[in-house]
Amino acid sequence: MEQDLILLGRVLSFVASPFSETGPEAAVQEHEAIALRGGRIVALGTRAALVKALPGAQLLDHGDKVILPGFVDAHVHYPQTAIIASWGKRLIDWLNTYTFPEEMRFGDAGYAAEIAARYLDLTTACGTTTVASYCTIHPESVEALFAAAQTRGQRVVAGKTCMDRNAPEGLRDTPQTAHDESAALIARWHGVDRLTYAITPRFSPTSTPEQLEALGALWAAHPSCLMQTHLSEQLDEIEWVRGLFPQARDYLDTYEGFGLLGEGAVFGHAIHLQPRERDRLRESGASLVHCPTSNTFIGSGLFDLHGLMAEGQRIGLATDTGGGSSFSMLRTMAAAYEVAQLRGTPLHAAQLLWLATQGSASALRLQDKVGNLAVDMEADLVVLDLASTPAIAQRVARADDLWEALFATVMMGDDRAISEVRIAGRKVV
Ligand code: GUN
Ligand code: ZN
Repeated sequence: MEQDLILLGRVLSFVASPFSETGPEAAVQEHEAIALRGGRIVALGTRAALVKALPGAQLLDHGDKVILPGFVDAHVHYPQTAIIASWGKRLIDWLNTYTFPEEMRFGDAGYAAEIAARYLDLTTACGTTTVASYCTIHPESVEALFAAAQTRGQRVVAGKTCMDRNAPEGLRDTPQTAHDESAALIARWHGVDRLTYAITPRFSPTSTPEQLEALGALWAAHPSCLMQTHLSEQLDEIEWVRGLFPQARDYLDTYEGFGLLGEGAVFGHAIHLQPRERDRLRESGASLVHCPTSNTFIGSGLFDLHGLMAEGQRIGLATDTGGGSSFSMLRTMAAAYEVAQLRGTPLHAAQLLWLATQGSASALRLQDKVGNLAVDMEADLVVLDLASTPAIAQRVARADDLWEALFATVMMGDDRAISEVRIAGRKVV
């Protein structure tokens, strides 16, 4: 049994949603200390109270650094790690030019393992402790990520990306193989240690109705799995979907009609939505994932975070690596702030941090396990240095309160601000 641990610092936990009537700052409670045992959080409180409660614990003092839940990135493509920041294309051309040729390489288990390890190293260094990743059509690509996450004790969601049309030779499966290979991966990995399987049709342009139907049936047989896909990212894409599914009422209907809408459905992007789609997303308990660096980088549009939050949608935040241009959830929060500014609805630092932790965890239905610092939650956490560079430090010197100081790191911080990362209590950075 590992020794109990008490971390001292400015420990922040959410007691409400900062988007609720509570208001952003009242939604956050600050503690002096947090105690960890066996990979879980066992207490929060004053230093004196925790030392008294756990007399044998090791004490680790982080001074005035801020201790937060580890970041949760609710939509990524780990196989796109090596082609992040590829120039000059919009969605469909970007997929054909950069993404598909790279994804072709993941039939090689050795290459998949190399990129999976590289991806988890890069994101952990940025303070991300949980990701929900698309893999490629190759089961080897899923094996590689789950195996790497399992070795690291990390909570990860992933699934085999299914495509049986509008993708190059070598990157297409069939309705039957998509179903059977996904089923075999579910049997092998879903619910093992900290791993969750997500049934993953890439998006309706690359799946035939027969494939969507097969995956709908698979989800009905395994309802504890998540289902992740893309929805209404670019206008050209929506036009394409209209042509491919003339019977469908709208883009969402191409999923809904095949049993791919409900609690545990996670839709990336969801920028250009019709009123019917918004209603059905909310009523069904589905989740939306805001991918701001991707939406500006690929030129997709401005997600209506304010409006969607106000109507009660379940929303997470994500990098969308490698359509997104950063591995860092700090950079992603900054981009979410900028997009909200362009819509005239500024976000508070507490709201940004909530989206990157509880919001994303909740979008992945993991809100009782990760994404907050509370008793019985898993001990995934990040320690932020609020003066990590001279540029940030000089701004923080002028800050009147914690929120002003934190906001400077949200807007200007990178992996240098990540002072320590713990996964299930174990120090990994
Ligand atoms: N739509 C379908 N596939 C993808 C992808 O890999 N990235 C993004 N951003 N959008 C997609
Ligand atoms: Zn994506």
